[in-house]
Amino acid sequence: MFVARTSTRIPLSKGTVLQVSRVVSSYGGYGKSSLSQPRAFSTTRRAGLREYFPQPETEMIRKTKPAWEHPEFAYEDMKTKIFYAHRKPADFSDRVALFMVRMLRWGTDIATGYKHDVESPKKIGDANVMAATKPYSMSERKWLTRFVFLESVAGVPGMVAAMLRHLNSMRRLKRDNGWIETLLEESQNERMHLLTFLKMAEPGWFMKLMILGAQGVFFNSMFLSYLVSPRTCHRFVGYLEEEAVLTYSLAISDLENGKLPLWTHPNFKVPDIAVDYWKIPEDKRTMRDLLLYVRADEAKHREVNHTLGNLDQNEDPNPFVSEYKDPSVPHPGKGIEHVRPTGWERKEII
Ligand SMILES: [Fe+2]
Ligand SMILES: [Fe+2]
Repeated sequence: MFVARTSTRIPLSKGTVLQVSRVVSSYGGYGKSSLSQPRAFSTTRRAGLREYFPQPETEMIRKTKPAWEHPEFAYEDMKTKIFYAHRKPADFSDRVALFMVRMLRWGTDIATGYKHDVESPKKIGDANVMAATKPYSMSERKWLTRFVFLESVAGVPGMVAAMLRHLNSMRRLKRDNGWIETLLEESQNERMHLLTFLKMAEPGWFMKLMILGAQGVFFNSMFLSYLVSPRTCHRFVGYLEEEAVLTYSLAISDLENGKLPLWTHPNFKVPDIAVDYWKIPEDKRTMRDLLLYVRADEAKHREVNHTLGNLDQNEDPNPFVSEYKDPSVPHPGKGIEHVRPTGWERKEII
């Protein structure tokens, strides 16, 4: 499989570039020839590097907070309850969804120059999903390239599904039963992931072009597919999120194994936008912590979409925002206390 190399590179932001130089010198020449020079990260002129979307300064407004508050995740839960999982396809529609995700994953791997150590064994509950048997490696820049591209498309399906359900509800003069908010919240959450990673890396022109093209294709195919079979689309997103959990698990694992020194350097700072959004406590602002938050979100999307894929699309209420007759029985919710990696079955919750 060929791997796109030069043109998908993401230049790091100014602060990170400075940080890079510092880290490199403290690593006694590790990769010095390429890392210590900002130009090595990009074909963009240095003057072209700038802070992305700085907070607009106005006369009257002090701060604009995100409209949807992120639910609080217990730190221990993010470490112990989130892991790679795979839902076995049960019927033709599931198999179509899984096939589509595999195709997309293949294309994305090429587009983002992704090549990792062998991802095995892929077992449910396995915290160490990576076996380092091949000498592939992902640098910080390569990971950011992948994150930015993935997150730029991840925010599409929730928005499309919410839009179609919104229009459907008005057209058919009937209730939506609470699905729209969760779907919109999901796409908002994915956009916050994207904005967070963009604070660390500015895409080059080629990546910008790919994002544009991918959005055009993905939005339209999602739009048409959701009209035909919303159930397959939710399953598709469920499988896509399985891959997202895997990607972030591998990045966390690389980081913990000391393969990503720029992200474990004491000078590394999690972007303010992330601190505000997840309300990250002061002592949990490392890159590893940030990846734990993002991965927990992906696991939540996986649970939500696999569950929605099990439901009657027209009649069933959204179980993630419903009140239950017996609240003491574990049921779906916004948090990760009772996270179900492969989704809740209909008979358990409706
Ligand atoms: Fe995401
Ligand atoms: Fe996601």
